[in-house]
Amino acid sequence: MEIKVLKDYKELSYTVADIVEYQLQEQPLSRLILPTGSTPLGLYKELVNRELDWSAVMTYNLDVYIMNPDHPQSYQTFMKENLFNKINIYPSNCQFPDRNVQLYEERLKGIPVDLCILGIGTNGHIAFNEPGSSFDSRTRVVHLDEQTIQDNSRFFDSVDDIPTQAITMGLGTIMDSKKIVLMANGEHKLNILNVAMNGEVTEDIPASILQNHDNVKVFYCD
Ligand code: PGA
Repeated sequence: MEIKVLKDYKELSYTVADIVEYQLQEQPLSRLILPTGSTPLGLYKELVNRELDWSAVMTYNLDVYIMNPDHPQSYQTFMKENLFNKINIYPSNCQFPDRNVQLYEERLKGIPVDLCILGIGTNGHIAFNEPGSSFDSRTRVVHLDEQTIQDNSRFFDSVDDIPTQAITMGLGTIMDSKKIVLMANGEHKLNILNVAMNGEVTEDIPASILQNHDNVKVFYCD
């Protein structure tokens, strides 16, 4: 698969913002899957600056930690602070997985998602589908991998505060999207990105499932 290497983080953010802008212009009633983490911060900032019309858009987040949604480090808080509170989207159109995983799946299955934006973990995870996740997996409660807990420790005061469980869309759920964009930022992601996009398609490297999708764009900057 082609990994498009971009000049810097700004170009990465602008390139994916262009894709989102085009999607919303072509189809105001778009359904999007959105990620959290450090990688999409520049994208969200750029989308806010562009003042697009989000009034008919539905969003579905990839995953949440199992923790109080009002906690400063929850993914619900992250999305509100970085995007939802700054655009004209209806709060009721911003969906997050919860323990009623069946209901989340039903909402997603109703009409296919138009565009899914993903990051990748250093262990090859997409959303919180850790290595070994089934390619058929759907939304479910998961235990986080030791590597992911380490990677996320930078956001918490102490390792003991980091949630160890999450609710994530499954790999099967993600693959149902019509279009997928994967963003990766930083040299520490380059090796896993190459392995996932051009190595063996295996459940040991969850992101490798994207090789089986016919509309994926992969963007990288160091
Ligand atoms: P990051 O996380 O954007 O914070 O690097 C990506 C991921 O783990 O999916």
